[in-house]
Amino acid sequence: MKTKPTVLKLGGSAITYKAHPQRANMRIIDRLAKEIEDAKTSRLIIVHGGGSFGHPLAKKYAINEGFHNPAQRLGFAETHEAMTVLNNLIMKALIRHNIPAVAVSPSSFILTKQGRIQELDTNIITRMQETGFVPVLYGDTVLDLEKGFAILSGDQLTARLAIELGAERIIIGVDVDGLYTADPKEDSSAKRLQRVTARELEKFHYGTKTLKVTDVTGGMHGKIIELIPAIEHGVRAVIVNAKKHDTIRKALCNERVAGTLIEKE
Ligand SMILES: Nc1ncnc2c1ncn2[C@@H]1O[C@H](COP(=O)(O)OP(=O)(O)OP(=O)(O)O)[C@@H](O)[C@H]1O
Ligand SMILES: [Mg+2]
Repeated sequence: MKTKPTVLKLGGSAITYKAHPQRANMRIIDRLAKEIEDAKTSRLIIVHGGGSFGHPLAKKYAINEGFHNPAQRLGFAETHEAMTVLNNLIMKALIRHNIPAVAVSPSSFILTKQGRIQELDTNIITRMQETGFVPVLYGDTVLDLEKGFAILSGDQLTARLAIELGAERIIIGVDVDGLYTADPKEDSSAKRLQRVTARELEKFHYGTKTLKVTDVTGGMHGKIIELIPAIEHGVRAVIVNAKKHDTIRKALCNERVAGTLIEKE
């Protein structure tokens, strides 16, 4: 039987300095590429977030509010271009570590409707995987059937790809050890949740309403909301700290790591 795909989301919080516009954390990116190389996961798909490359520009030009001002066109172009710069840094690191990674730009094959993925043809991605490539996608500016354009978060894309491709699991790498009862950066009494079900998540109130760093797609709260449909579909998700040495490799190899496991029931 063919192994089911794994979708790995590399969070912008781990691979960039979110408080510093357009600054990538090259040390982490290179180490993650090495960990991915060492894990030798079959049928892997990588999605990365925008971090300090995507979010500040998307906010500046109000891309997520849709197309209502001609000046936003250049902003859309600039935001997309910034994402390709970050993507290229990741691609170079992956290829340096012998991973046959191929970048696939979401804006060129995905359409949204009111910000939700409407058209997505997974044929190319499936065939890439069958040929042994590792497709790499990212949160991107996309055309929207009603709003003109929108931001497609790496989190929405991750969950949807997992569903469409029949993935077994989603691994989410961020800069904290998992999902907590509150933002661990703001509340020292926050406790990490080891295992939660989709139903528990729906009732759960976590995180801050005021995000310290710019995240136009809702930070941890947005991430959880996006994950729920994939979990209900039977995909297992784990949220781990991608900045901690060897954590992503262990997660890819199904070894025990500190994190939050999210399952259907
Ligand atoms: N309850 C919570 N548990 C864990 N982290 C939380 C919680 N509430 C808020 N956070 C914050 O969420 C952040 C991760 O989400 P964020 O969207 O900023 O990163 P990301 O998704 O990795 O970045 P990107 O969107 O660029 O990919 C953490 O840095 C943490 O401070
Ligand atoms: Mg985010």
